[in-house]
Amino acid sequence: MKKIIIANWKMQLGRKESRDLAKKLVARGGKSRPEVVICPSYASLETVSSVIKGSGFKLGAQDSGMEKKGAYTGEVSPLDLASLGVKYVILGHSERREHLHENSTIINRKIKAALSCGLIPILCIGEKWEERKAGKTQEFLDMELRRALKGVKIGRASSLVIAYEPVWAISTNQKARPIAPEEANAAQAFIKRRAKQILRQEVRVIYGGSASPKNQAALLAEPYIDGLLVGGASLKAEEFKKMIS
Ligand code: PGA
Repeated sequence: MKKIIIANWKMQLGRKESRDLAKKLVARGGKSRPEVVICPSYASLETVSSVIKGSGFKLGAQDSGMEKKGAYTGEVSPLDLASLGVKYVILGHSERREHLHENSTIINRKIKAALSCGLIPILCIGEKWEERKAGKTQEFLDMELRRALKGVKIGRASSLVIAYEPVWAISTNQKARPIAPEEANAAQAFIKRRAKQILRQEVRVIYGGSASPKNQAALLAEPYIDGLLVGGASLKAEEFKKMIS
């Protein structure tokens, strides 16, 4: 399967900034070799969608609701996202787990709702520094996988993506530390194996956490890294263009 590079713009850009950045990326010339997904904020989805139309880039959202419809004030239905042309949706990002107290039960419901609307969930999992230090990385990843994927059924391997994002390597965390590509690869090999046992499909497992043009080649050279989820470096047109060309 093609490598996939996903831009997570978080809540860093307004609508005009999102449109401008999307325009710069689209104007990069030539078709990109990896599959590229842009995930702007909800408010910028429509404007980015119109800019990237026909470019080969795909549209992603940064979250979606637990149900298609209902009394859930403030939530956004995966059905509406699909109707806007959204193909992918990031679910269970560590920032939502930390700041919005999202737990695995909620994330599990969101995955099922997204799948039922034809969206491809990008399930984020990753240990914190304390868990890594205690030698509990695999135990923790296993627990997150089992809980988030409980009862989840996918028709095809391409219907779901898992992003391994060690919380301690995400660039905006105060003490962010770089990960060695071999360490990421070992965690991803474990995730791939466990996810296959749970889902009975070999899904793509991508890496996220301070990915940039500097470490991209080394990360993507590892056999179990199927792509990258990029935060900070995806906000800089020149850096991100390097990553997708
Ligand atoms: P980062 O963010 O690339 O800035 O570390 C990745 C993410 O949080 O998805």
